[in-house]
Amino acid sequence: MRIDVVTVFPDYLAALDLSLIGKARQAGLLDLRVHDLRDWTTDRHRTVDDTPFGGGAGMVMRPDVWGTAIDAVSGDPGEGGAHLVIPTPSGEVFTQRHAEALSHESHLVIACGRYEGIDARVAEHYRGAGTRVSELSIGDYVLNGGEVAALVMIEAVGRLLPGVVGNPESLVEESHGAAGLLEYPVYTKPPSWREHPVPEELVSGHHARIARWRRDRALERTAARREDLIARLEVATLDKHDLATLARWGWSVVDGALRRDGAGDDRGRRDSSARAI
Ligand code: ADE
Repeated sequence: MRIDVVTVFPDYLAALDLSLIGKARQAGLLDLRVHDLRDWTTDRHRTVDDTPFGGGAGMVMRPDVWGTAIDAVSGDPGEGGAHLVIPTPSGEVFTQRHAEALSHESHLVIACGRYEGIDARVAEHYRGAGTRVSELSIGDYVLNGGEVAALVMIEAVGRLLPGVVGNPESLVEESHGAAGLLEYPVYTKPPSWREHPVPEELVSGHHARIARWRRDRALERTAARREDLIARLEVATLDKHDLATLARWGWSVVDGALRRDGAGDDRGRRDSSARAI
């Protein structure tokens, strides 16, 4: 995969030389190129922004500079072209599903805005020209620019590329995977630490028991922390035992969908297994 990042702070992206993403670049699995937007300015002051039409605070990034930059790094649109990603707090919320979809692209261009953002005609123009354009937010908070969001997205996408994560099985059961649940808690040696023993199920050597324990903890954790994920579970993917665990957290099946009955509010939290959460 090739990724071009355009930013007024190229040094922000230096962290991508490190760790697994750095190794993926060295191994040639990821062709990552970071560009300074100001290289495409034409005036003496290398201006990238101006005051907003309609008034208001802050500055808006100019579409002409961005258009020249994006054209220069996007390659030939005839060959499928690049997928343009614009990090912005007003975008759709970036999730593991976006990371998976983007990991199948061969070329991403990430346009990092600063100030009040990029002139809206940029996204509009490229969409109109048939380019795939994703305006994505990494969460409901405002950063000073798209660079940190680009780092987040590149790491989330990069680790899904074949060969980047040494053991691909570690991608299977993690949080936000296909099961729609948060990951169960994990433990390693020593078997007892500061009088906290590892849950006995995990040292039982009994595969089915371990799997059941992990599934229950994943369900409980998700019920405690992310009601939105529980509400989205497909009832058909849940077994009798799953439903009993969820019932302890106040969830029951009504008209084929999971509903919270409210009465279970404290029930799960009083349950001894809630300590694992
Ligand atoms: N730029 C500023 N805030 C952002 C956010 N939350 N997500 C993506 N890009 C941003």
